[in-house]
Amino acid sequence: MCNFNATHLAKAHAKAMDTTVDEIGPDIYRISTWMPDITEHGFTFNQFLLTGDEPFLFHCGHRQLFPLVSAAINKVMPIEKLRWIAFGHLEADECGAVNLMLAAAPQAEVIHSPLAIMVSLTDLCDRPPVPAPDGVLDTGGHRLQFIATPHVPHNWEAGLWFDEATSTLLAGDLLTHVGKCPALTESDCSAPALETEGFFHATGLTTNLLPTIEQLAALNPTTLAIMHGSSYTGDGAAQLRALADGYGAMMGASVQ
Ligand SMILES: [Fe+2]
Ligand SMILES: [Fe+2]
Repeated sequence: MCNFNATHLAKAHAKAMDTTVDEIGPDIYRISTWMPDITEHGFTFNQFLLTGDEPFLFHCGHRQLFPLVSAAINKVMPIEKLRWIAFGHLEADECGAVNLMLAAAPQAEVIHSPLAIMVSLTDLCDRPPVPAPDGVLDTGGHRLQFIATPHVPHNWEAGLWFDEATSTLLAGDLLTHVGKCPALTESDCSAPALETEGFFHATGLTTNLLPTIEQLAALNPTTLAIMHGSSYTGDGAAQLRALADGYGAMMGASVQ
């Protein structure tokens, strides 16, 4: 969702210590690469590894970040043991490295919505993707529910996952905020996210935005695994509703 070029990559390599691994919930690891120069405060690109009998990765990262992200995964577990590869939608930061991940993990399958598979993934993935189940994907440690979120925050095929075992929402680009942030915070993320939206304009201000965010809030997540910025622990529903309120105000202002 952001400008990303070879200069950013070179700087990330030069500061390899900036790819960090933190356990933000039970058997949920946040892999985070901070990039300077994307906004004045820098910007993080995060992947989430849910370990268990069938390790599940949410976001592959950019293709060019694969050396850093794969090394980080290997600090937690051998990458070849990955079973599931998931991501919110079709953008380079979400899935640029998908085929490199598939090559590194021979047992792994990409899992997404039937729509995403039909529109893009059958063509893009080096091995056939599989559709998310209607019910729960039990990975032996996590119980994951796929939630289609078309056009929220962007892209037709967008979708997120909720882990019933830990009440964690893999929130993707929702609540995106800038800066070199702590791995996990109890501080408000909604105001920084709305401020960030003010200059990225990454969210589709569509008619289904607020109902979709309310659908996610109704899950009452206690951890929000946010792709760009800190992850959040606390009243996740309140964070999502505050985000929706802010978007509502923006939409109201846009039609004045
Ligand atoms: Fe995105
Ligand atoms: Fe993203």
